[in-house]
Amino acid sequence: MASANLLFFVLMLSSVRVGRSSESLFKLKCQPAVGVIGQTTHISCSIEFYTKPKPVVINTVALTRSGEKKSCFTIQPLENIRIGDSRFDVEKEPSLQLHNTAISDEGEYRYLIRTNLGQDQVRFTINVTAKYSNPIITSVPKEIVNDGAADLYCNASGGYPAGTIHWFDQSNTNWTKSATLQSTQGNDGLFTLSSKLSFQKIDSLWAPFRCVVLNSKYEEEEGGTTSTLEIKDNPENSPSTSSTVNNSIAGVVVIGSLIVGLLIVLLFKRRRNKRAVPMEHTYPEEEKDLNEPVYKKAAEAEEIFTV
Ligand SMILES: *[C@@H]1O[C@H](CO)[C@@H](O)[C@H](O)[C@H]1NC(C)=O
Ligand SMILES: *[C@@H]1O[C@H](CO)[C@@H](O)[C@H](O)[C@H]1NC(C)=O
Ligand SMILES: *[C@@H]1O[C@H](CO)[C@@H](O)[C@H](O)[C@H]1NC(C)=O
Repeated sequence: MASANLLFFVLMLSSVRVGRSSESLFKLKCQPAVGVIGQTTHISCSIEFYTKPKPVVINTVALTRSGEKKSCFTIQPLENIRIGDSRFDVEKEPSLQLHNTAISDEGEYRYLIRTNLGQDQVRFTINVTAKYSNPIITSVPKEIVNDGAADLYCNASGGYPAGTIHWFDQSNTNWTKSATLQSTQGNDGLFTLSSKLSFQKIDSLWAPFRCVVLNSKYEEEEGGTTSTLEIKDNPENSPSTSSTVNNSIAGVVVIGSLIVGLLIVLLFKRRRNKRAVPMEHTYPEEEKDLNEPVYKKAAEAEEIFTV
């Protein structure tokens, strides 16, 4: 009885093996495809033989979206029959191509081929991408004042799938954690990204800022994806310009008091010469009196200078 069971089991196994080998002598393989919106996507597939390669004649190609029963594209080359989405085509058997790729084409597909050597099917995905526009940095207020509050915006649009935006300053310090990203999807499926970086007190030394758009794989998008923004010193409000004003006032005060002092010295010398009184002991006192206000004014000027 046990041997009969064993015989049955062996027969079953061998029938499975025979069934499989008569089903197909090959395996159909496809690589995941990545397409760009509006362009042609190449779906690279190949036939790999389990045994010695033989000439294959494909008589049916059928592509079906996962979760759907009806195929979206079918070709029977021998009968010259073509059904479904005309954007699909057989590129070079068994590879496919999809013209004018759209976001809605993204997803998983089941691909079946029937040949003179049997049939096989495989699953692959189509992913779709669209490049974001070069980012534009704007600010509120438009004219950023040093030490003032400012919101910086970095916007990029027309991309797919949703990406992200990173911020860096002049010294390459990463400000991304302080920014908030807003991602909105339009009716066309494309994303608009807007990142807001808010400052209570912005420092002109941090400028220029750089924002970088990254795609969903966190790769920097190719070509010109950085923007810069300068913070201009406002001549009225900026402390650095008012300090230069102070400096020049101090300079005028110092030079002016020196000139005044010099004039007074000259005046007294002339008076002294007129009198021609040789009173040597009064000279140091007189000179001290004369010079004192000059030093004092200079000292005052220095105070203004250091403030
Ligand atoms: C590729 O497409 C599949 C199917 O729609 C999706 O699940 C997957 O997240 C996509 N991969 C990337 C990197 O976008
Ligand atoms: C950037 O996006 C923000 C928020 O959506 C918006 O207020 C601002 O006007 C946009 N800037 C530009 C230049 O489109
Ligand atoms: C910047 O910061 C963000 C958020 O913390 C991080 O994901 C990103 O990797 C950083 N970039 C660099 C270049 O350090």
